[in-house]
Order: sequence, then structure tokens, then C-alpha cells
Amino acid sequence: MQDMSLVLFGASGDLAKRKLYPALYNLFLEGKMPPSISVVGLGRKPFSNEDFHALIKEALESFSRRDIVSSSLDEFLEKFRYCIFDATKQESYKDLQDFIETRESELNIPDNRLFYLSVAPKLVDLITTNLHKNGISQTKGWKRLIIEKPFGSDLKSAQELNAKLKEVFDEDEIFRIDHYLGKPMVQNLESLIRPNPILKSLWDHHQIANVQITASETVGVGTRAGYYDQAGAIRDMVQNHLLQLVMMTALHHPKKLSPKEIEDNKREIMESLRPVAKDEMSQHIVRGQYEAGEVEGETVKAYREEDGIDPDSNNDTFFAARLYIDNEYWKGIPFYIRTGKRMKEKSTRIVIEFKNEADETENPEEIGLVSNLLEIEINPAESVSLRVNIKDQSNEQFEPAFITFSKNPSSQPEAYERLLNDAMQGNSTYFAHWNEVELSWKWIQPILEAFEEDGLPLNFYPAGSTGPEASHKLLETDGFNWW
Ligand code: BG6
Repeated sequence: MQDMSLVLFGASGDLAKRKLYPALYNLFLEGKMPPSISVVGLGRKPFSNEDFHALIKEALESFSRRDIVSSSLDEFLEKFRYCIFDATKQESYKDLQDFIETRESELNIPDNRLFYLSVAPKLVDLITTNLHKNGISQTKGWKRLIIEKPFGSDLKSAQELNAKLKEVFDEDEIFRIDHYLGKPMVQNLESLIRPNPILKSLWDHHQIANVQITASETVGVGTRAGYYDQAGAIRDMVQNHLLQLVMMTALHHPKKLSPKEIEDNKREIMESLRPVAKDEMSQHIVRGQYEAGEVEGETVKAYREEDGIDPDSNNDTFFAARLYIDNEYWKGIPFYIRTGKRMKEKSTRIVIEFKNEADETENPEEIGLVSNLLEIEINPAESVSLRVNIKDQSNEQFEPAFITFSKNPSSQPEAYERLLNDAMQGNSTYFAHWNEVELSWKWIQPILEAFEEDGLPLNFYPAGSTGPEASHKLLETDGFNWW
């Protein structure tokens, strides 16, 4: 890996503490950092380097998946320097340029610069424009930009933001983080399907009855009322994470695909995603909001009673939909997606339900035959299990049995570790490319408009439940149920 500067905007923020420092530390322990790297942390707080190192150490103690190795901690911290920075002040950019250059010459690093913007969305455009204006992004080496979601708040704002970024960075220099793409089981999908002919040959509408993608959470809105009451589940989870999971599941792997082929195939999937017609919206989309209830033994408030939430808010904390991908592989097969806060359990999973091909002479229900299921648990457990029918010879009835394979999540690199490592190497396979992002917003846009026009009922569900009744009906009308 080439030597570089990593310039981190938002160095004392929550994401940096919870995810980025632990990720960098684990990469360091595994020898996956470049031999020489200058990490410049930027923030408005007047920290000394010692304060900054103390903050990083604390973050590692709280959030690293591996314990701190004291003999090498100083070597790790030595890579980090703090630079006070105010994104709205021109002097800050001038100081930053000097700061980066000084470190580059001290460490003899070529000007390869990776800019990580872990900042409020409204600052992204301002910072990138000023990086250019002040020559910070005009490097002789390479330059790359990592940005966090949200990438716009609707189709138009996403297009505008992208146009701004493109003035400074090329598409192959922009790494849009979707941390779901960094999850080990999501990255393992390809290696689950392609090398296993028994799965590869079943991966289409001939054998699959439906695909279900669930991302349920037990947490509520927490301290993010200002953002979440505007975003809702549709922008927070669906436009990005869930649609990325749809793409990753629908990918076909006739052979090992190159990063470019993966990108092209994902775009083709999004192009084949059937738009939801306005007059059919209520048949395919369910939106919901949590009421008071009990989650994991604790009584919790209704969404409308949460701190900072408008007591009349019609915001969605739950979203479910039936999608169709009109291509040769998936024609006619429903993909069901759902996500919600304050649900019964924390679980992200993909379930593939196969067609139940009972012999004409048998009634599957009478003899206990169930459809085969392939369950891919993404979070918090990481496992794959296949449900098959086994006959109990004593009563001639079939019983479901599970073949399960699971991994210990703590031994796996975390999403941010994988994604940072990829961005450092310039590999954008598991990042959201502009085509996908734009096409997701195109699919989402009419639904957003229906929400705004109150064109879809808001279904309430008790906290701690599996979501509104309407989401169960969505599958029942097709003869299925959520797994
Ligand atoms: C984030 C959302 O992107 O993903 C949060 O903004 C959500 O609202 C989180 O809680 C869920 O991530 P994970 O990895 O816990 O499933």
C-alpha cells in the first residue's frame, strides 16, 4: 500500500471515536496500514496533540474489537496530529495546506491524500469546494474522498451534491460509504453463492419463490431527533442500506466478477427495478410509526413523545415494500424489504424462500412439508442456515431441520475496517457508486412524494412488536409470511 496522508474532518466526532479510530487501530495491528502514514485530525475544539492522543486511546479502550497492545500503542498514536479547523474560515484551509505539507515532508510521504468527511451534510459541499480553491486537493500523487451518508435528501439534492463533488473529484476518486456493504456477511454473499453450484444453480426465478430482507432494530430515535424526524426510515435505511442489500442479493455470479462488472451489474439491477406507480403505492408500500410499548423488558415512549420530535409528526420509523426486478433472472419474483426502529429484535438478515415443489400426489401441509429456506444472518449474528425437510420414519411426517454454519463476529474485521482498507487501496467495489445512488433516489422519489402528500396511510405499531399489521398483509396477499 502506498504511503499517504489521511485527512479526517470531524476528528472528535462520534463516528471517529466509535468506528474510525478502532478500525485504523485494528488495521495497524494487522500490518494493513501503509508503512508511512500521516493522519491529520481536524476539529473546532482547541486540542493539543496530547489531548488528541488521549481521545483516541479512550476510543480504543471503549470500542476496539481487540485489546490495546501497550508496547506498540505509542507507535500507532505517533501517526496522528491534530489541527484546529473551522470549515467556514478561509484561513483554516491555508493553515491546513501548510500542516499537511509539513507532515508530508517530515515523514517523506508523497502527496497522496485521502480526505475523510465525517461532518454534517451541509458542510460537504463547502469543504470540497475549498479544498480545491486552496490547492489542497491538487496533488501530484492521488487524491480520494470518503463521504458518509446521507447523500442528498431527495433525487434533486443528491444530483446537485454530486455535481458539486464532480467539480473537484472524479467518480473513481469518490468513495461513498454505505457501512452495510462493509459487513462481512454482505461481502461473503458472492463467495457463498458462486463457488457452491447447489446455490448458484438455484439463484433465480425458476427455484426461488421470494426474497425477504429485514433490518429491524430495537433502538428508537435516540438523540438524533433533528435529523431523523426529517429523514425517516425511508431515507435513513431504505434508499441506501436496504437497496444495496437488494442489489447484492440479486447479483448473478456466473464467474468471479471484477469490481467494474459488479458495479455495472448493480446498475443494471437498479435500472430493472420496477417503479411503483402512484395509484398502486398503497398495495406495495407500508409505512409505520412506533407507539409506546415494551422492548427487551423496558417500557419505552411512543415516537411522538420522544425528545425533540414533533408531537404531530407523521414521520416513518418503519417501512416495508414489495419490489420487482424485471430482468431475466428475477421476473415475477417478489423481493420484500422491511426496516423499523423499536421492533422486537435487532436483526439484519436476508431470507431466500424456495418454491415448495411437492409431488402432485402429496398435500404438503398434511405431511408437514415446508419450503426450503436459506437464511443469511448479517447482524448481530453472522450465520448461514438452510432449512430442509427430513422425514420422521416413526410417523411418516416431515420435520424441518437446519444446516447451520456460523462465525464468531468478534474475530471478523468490522465494516469500517474493511472499507477504510479498501479506500486506502483505491478499491471501490464495496462503496456506493453514483449510478446506484441516483437510481435508488429515482425509485424512492415518487414514494417520498406520496409520503409528503399524505397519500399513504401511516400505520402505528406498538414498540417491541414485529411492525404494523399492514406489513404482514403485504406478504399474506401473496401467500407468504415474513421469516
Ligand atoms: C445507520 C442509520 O446508517 O444505520 C441508523 O443512520 C441505524 O439509524 C444504523 O441505526 C443501523 O446500522 P447497524 O449496522 O446497527 O444495522
